Amino acid sequence: MGQIVVETSDLSKNYNGLTAVNKLNLRIEEGEVYGFLGPNGAGKTTTILMLLGLTEPTSGTVQVCGHIPQREPIKVKSLVGYLPEKVGFYEDLTAAQNLKYTAALNGLPRGEVEDKIATILAMVGLSQVADHQVNTFSRGMKQRLGIADILIKEPKLAFLDEPTVGIDPKGIDDILNIITSMSRKGITVIFCSHQLPQVQKVCTRVGIFAKGKLIAEGPVRILKQQTSQEGQYRIEIQIADPVSGLTDMIKDIKGVIDISGPPNSPLIICSADLRSQIAKTIVDSGSSLIGMKIEEYNLEEIYKKYFREE
Ligand SMILES: Nc1ncnc2c1ncn2[C@@H]1O[C@H](COP(=O)(O)OP(=O)(O)O)[C@@H](O)[C@H]1O
Ligand SMILES: [Mg+2]
Repeated sequence: MGQIVVETSDLSKNYNGLTAVNKLNLRIEEGEVYGFLGPNGAGKTTTILMLLGLTEPTSGTVQVCGHIPQREPIKVKSLVGYLPEKVGFYEDLTAAQNLKYTAALNGLPRGEVEDKIATILAMVGLSQVADHQVNTFSRGMKQRLGIADILIKEPKLAFLDEPTVGIDPKGIDDILNIITSMSRKGITVIFCSHQLPQVQKVCTRVGIFAKGKLIAEGPVRILKQQTSQEGQYRIEIQIADPVSGLTDMIKDIKGVIDISGPPNSPLIICSADLRSQIAKTIVDSGSSLIGMKIEEYNLEEIYKKYFREE
């Protein structure tokens, strides 16, 4: 298992009687591209602000890269990159000049700055306009420069808050491709969006936010099975003395999408009600089944239900 980079426990935020974030429990591992998916007002931005230490939680706890943002804001800031919904630059400076300024603020060694800026501008596709003033840039170009600005710091973790809003389809693809290349460089990414197809394209796991709550969470491949008529099921089992290799035997059952958790109490996600097959596999293996619980679990349905108002 990778290192946990974000962990919250019952994290909540109230704004004068309004609960913007309600008992959020998140665990995000190093290397994930995690989608915060939810309609406007669901609490995504407020969550990010608390993870960054930019706003105080009303209750609950947060850890980011092993640090408490409220207690060690500078440490967290040095490890994390943040692209806010509204990105701001010095409009009459060029793209390269803006990045130089960020490099200086972050204490990058002078000798490395030029090369690094050139590499990063190439990665976000802005090499040709490095010396153009930012006030000539489209929104998509500014967002890409915003990502470049994050990359200068070589963060462990990056938060991108609705980076594709107001951008044309080609521009959106560019940003999604950049997210994928950030992940390949080893950066854990939290991508916040109200657009399901975009989240599906780049995220490994998604959390669905509605009215301040995380109402569902799962690997994005579950959401991808959009055309399937069947629901997905979530089966929790308890096994006494599981034999070694039992997890793999269960994984091999046709229709099992995912199995996670400890060998004696795994959580199985499957495309049909596989209770009898799973029970048989456990018993045949020589282990004893002591409990089983099934729940219909369909991120797609949950998503549609909560997003109908949009
Ligand atoms: N600074 C604030 N003061 C009061 N209410 C706020 C503030 N920021 C956000 N809210 C409210 O909190 C809720 C969650 O907002 P937000 O986190 O911005 O959602 P999202 O990013 O998912 O659109 C909304 O109802 C919003 O109006
Ligand atoms: Mg927001």
